[in-house]
Amino acid sequence: MILPIYLYGHPVLRTDTELVTPDYPDLAQLIENMKETMYASDGIGIAAPQVGVSVRLVYIDVDVLADDMPELKDVRMVLINPEITIDESVPTVSREEGCLSVPGIHEAVARHEKIHLKWTDENWQTHEQDIEGYLARVVQHECDHLFKTVFVDRISPIRKQLIRTKLNNIVKGKVHCNYRTRGVKPARR
Ligand code: NI
Repeated sequence: MILPIYLYGHPVLRTDTELVTPDYPDLAQLIENMKETMYASDGIGIAAPQVGVSVRLVYIDVDVLADDMPELKDVRMVLINPEITIDESVPTVSREEGCLSVPGIHEAVARHEKIHLKWTDENWQTHEQDIEGYLARVVQHECDHLFKTVFVDRISPIRKQLIRTKLNNIVKGKVHCNYRTRGVKPARR
């Protein structure tokens, strides 16, 4: 089932998330719904708060970028309770990002080039791995959503000032999207 994407300004994007437990009801269904919702909106990553669910769950599929970045071929990940460890000596790289919850806005964000990630997959297997490059960026962006952070929180104050009107318009529902959304105010489609 395709779910509405919650937009910038909605309190669910600023709500603490809970750990997913093995007895979480209908977890497989929630993962399926997040996948369907992400593909229907042409996203490459989605976090549970973006569909209004305050748990630590992320789905990523960056395969669509494999023409430009061959290392992303067939990279699809379900991240349950992901934990990122960052070595602060690892350099950051600035690159443009967008977000299904912040339609029409693309801004450069500095992210660590390499992270260490621990997570549980949909079969309840735990993994631990160093992740680099663009995938590290996507993982950091999605995991931010689990901790009440949206990418525009990480841009420079000057850039933020410049997009203030656009952000306010999203909050006011003055935004056009070709996917289902839910904001503080109803959005036009
Ligand atoms: Ni996002």
